[in-house]
Amino acid sequence: MEHVKFTAMKDGDKEDYAFLHPLEVEYASGTADRLLKALVSLDESLSGYQVTRLGHSLQSATRAERDGADIDWVVSALLHDIGDIFAPYNHDEYAAAILKPFVREQCTWVVEKHGDFQMIYYGHHVGADPEKRQQYAGHRYFDDCVAFCARWDQASFDPGYDTRPIEHFAARVHEVFARQAYDPAVIRTGEREPLVV
Ligand SMILES: [Fe+2]
Ligand SMILES: [Fe+2]
Repeated sequence: MEHVKFTAMKDGDKEDYAFLHPLEVEYASGTADRLLKALVSLDESLSGYQVTRLGHSLQSATRAERDGADIDWVVSALLHDIGDIFAPYNHDEYAAAILKPFVREQCTWVVEKHGDFQMIYYGHHVGADPEKRQQYAGHRYFDDCVAFCARWDQASFDPGYDTRPIEHFAARVHEVFARQAYDPAVIRTGEREPLVV
């Protein structure tokens, strides 16, 4: 069998779907490599800053690592702006959707909301509400997102910072995306790990 027999999904049989399954598993195993490639393509995106989006991503991850944050945090910091490629108006939600099956709930939430929390630094310059974060006041991960933005995101536009290269982080990206999707032992609903150790 080289391909399925059906031309509409409703007509597929057990053999068709059994044939597709290992192909889907094999394709999914390439996620980490595709993400690392996408990250490199961020080097050409969004000009005007003193660092590229790739440089910003690597610097955020480097700061996370130097703070002693765990692998979920470092990989989340590395990928937090990957949504800029295809979702400039909800890049935070896009990145969170990629991370969600493979990192702690805490990290997914912070990545998903970081756009709103970042507003505190520039909203008043662009006619947006700097206090957009207040809609999440009292949330269990509110302070984590405050710290994520203050320590790693808003600070990582410095061309003079000693930023580590993408190769330094590749093994951890592979480790995270090789996890079993939605493993409760990874998602750890409601649990918090510190950003600074
Ligand atoms: Fe962002
Ligand atoms: Fe960012």
